[in-house]
Amino acid sequence: MSFTKLTADEAAALIPHDANVGFSGFTASGSPKVVPEAIARRAEQLHAEGKDYKINIFTGASTNNWADGALARANAIGKRTPYQNTPDLRKRINSHDCHYFDLHLSELAQKVRYNTYGEIDWAIIEVADVADNGEIVLGMGVGNVPTYALLAKHVILELNAKFPRELYGFHDNYVPQDPPYRREIPIYTASDRIGTPTVKIDPSKIVGVVDSCSYDGIKGFTALDDTSLQIGANVCSFLMGEMKAGRIPAGFLPVQSGVGNVANAVLYGFGEAKELPPITMYTEVIQDAVIELMKQGRCRFGSTCSLTLSDKMEEEVTHNLEFFRDKLVLRPAEISNSPEVIRRLGVIAMNTALEADIFGNINSTHVVGTKMMNGIGGSGDFTRNGYISIFSCPSITKEGLISNIVPMVSHVDHSEHSVDVLITEQGVADLRGLDPVQRAHRIIDNCANPIYRPLLRDYLKLGKGGQTPHNLAAALGFHTAFLETGSMANVDWSRYE
Ligand code: COA
Repeated sequence: MSFTKLTADEAAALIPHDANVGFSGFTASGSPKVVPEAIARRAEQLHAEGKDYKINIFTGASTNNWADGALARANAIGKRTPYQNTPDLRKRINSHDCHYFDLHLSELAQKVRYNTYGEIDWAIIEVADVADNGEIVLGMGVGNVPTYALLAKHVILELNAKFPRELYGFHDNYVPQDPPYRREIPIYTASDRIGTPTVKIDPSKIVGVVDSCSYDGIKGFTALDDTSLQIGANVCSFLMGEMKAGRIPAGFLPVQSGVGNVANAVLYGFGEAKELPPITMYTEVIQDAVIELMKQGRCRFGSTCSLTLSDKMEEEVTHNLEFFRDKLVLRPAEISNSPEVIRRLGVIAMNTALEADIFGNINSTHVVGTKMMNGIGGSGDFTRNGYISIFSCPSITKEGLISNIVPMVSHVDHSEHSVDVLITEQGVADLRGLDPVQRAHRIIDNCANPIYRPLLRDYLKLGKGGQTPHNLAAALGFHTAFLETGSMANVDWSRYE
C-alpha cells in the first residue's frame, strides 16, 4: 500500500478547531473507531490549556461510543447531524453544549452536495480494504461515504483488520445527479444493483491510513419479553389479514423495520408467523433478527444501509460471507431511504413510537416533549412514503407510570396523515378511512392499556367540538400529571372542566 501509515494521534493532530468532518458508517456499523477517540483526547488537552476546540460532525446516522461517546464526553462536538443515540451526546444536546439538528436521513447527502452547511473539510472513513488507486471497500455501514469521499478536501482512512477484504461486492455505491438533472433511481426490486462495489477517492486527498481492529461494538438486544413478543405477533397477524384481503399481493411487498428493541421483536415475529411468505427487506438497518430470518429461510433478501449486528453476529456473518453474498446489498443512505424508491416499491414501513396520541400523531424523538432521545432517523423517509405505514410501541412504559397512548403527543414527528396503523401488545388499530373521532375510539379500545382507557375516554368527553375535538387546556394533562406526580394515571380532569 502506497499511503502513509499514521497513528490515531498523528491523524487527530491534523484536524483543526471548527472543521466540518464527515464520518463513515451508519449506526455504529462502519463508523470510525480510533481517530475520533484520539481527537477527543486532543480536545481535552487543548481545553485544559484554555483553548477552544470543537469539530462539526456529519455522519450517516448514529455512530458509536468511541466516536460520539468520547467526543461528547470531551465536549468536542460543535454541530452534529443527522442522528445520534449515545447517552453522553444526548446529555450534551439537551444542555445545548452541542448544536444538534435532527434531519431525515435521506436528505443529508444532497444538502451537503449543495453546500448547505459549509464545505466538508475532512472525512474519516473506515475501510475493509484500500487499493493504491484510492478505491476503498467499506465495512458494515455505508451512510454518506460516497458524498463525503467526493467532497472532503482531505481523507483519513481507518483500515479495520476485523473486516475482510472479501466484503468486496456487498456494497452498491451510487451518487444520483442533483436536481434538476436527476433521473429516477433505477431500482425496481430490492436486490437490484445500480452502482459500484467500491468508492473511488482521489488518492492525492488521502493523507494517511490508521490501523484499527475491532468489530462495531454493538451489544445484543434485551431479551424478548411478553410485551414485545405480543407486539410482533400483532404486527404479523395484521399483515396476514392484509394479504388475505388482497391488499398485499401474495408474493408480499418489501419490508422496512425501524431501530430498537421493539423493532427487533417485530422481526422476530416474522420467524414465527409461518403463514407469511419469506420476506424481502428494503430498509436502512438490518439487525440480528433479520440474520436469523435469513438462516431460517424466512428472509430472502435484504437491501440496507448497514448491518447493525451485535459483535457476536458480526463475527458469524464475516466468517460466512459466501452464505450471505446473494442475500444482502449495502447502499448509501440517500438510496436505502430514497422516498422515490420506497414509494415505487410499495414498502411496508414499520417504525417505533415513544408515544402516540388518540388521533394518530406520533412522537418518536422527544421524551415528555422536551428532551431529545435519538432523532427521527429514517422513520420519516419510510413512513411518509410507505405503502402501509405502521407504528408500534408498548401501551405503557415504566411499569405503567407512563401511558404511551396520550391525548395529544408532546412533540410531533409523524402526523396523523402519514400513519395508517397503530399496534401495541393490546391490539391493532387500523386507522385507514376513519375520521379523527373514530380513530380516537379505535386507538383507545384496541391499543391503550386497560388502566388508561377510562382516562382517555374521559378526556374525549372534555373535547370542545370540531373535527379533532381537543380540549387545549387539558391536552397535555397526562404529561403534566407525570411531571408533577410521577404518574400519568394521576391526571385530574376536573382541573380542566
Ligand atoms: N416517555 C418517556 N420515556 C419513554 C417513553 C415515553 N412515552 N416510551 C419509551 N420510553 C423510554 C423507555 O422506558 C426506555 O428507557 P430506558 O432506556 O431508560 O429503559 C427507552 O425510552 C427506549 O424504549 P424501548 O421501549 O426500549 O424502545 P426501543 O428500543 O424500541 O426504541 C425509539 C424506541 C422510539 C426510542 C426508537 O425506535 C427510535 O429512536 N426511533 C426513532 C428513529 C427511528 O425510528 N429510526 C428507524 C427508521 S428506519
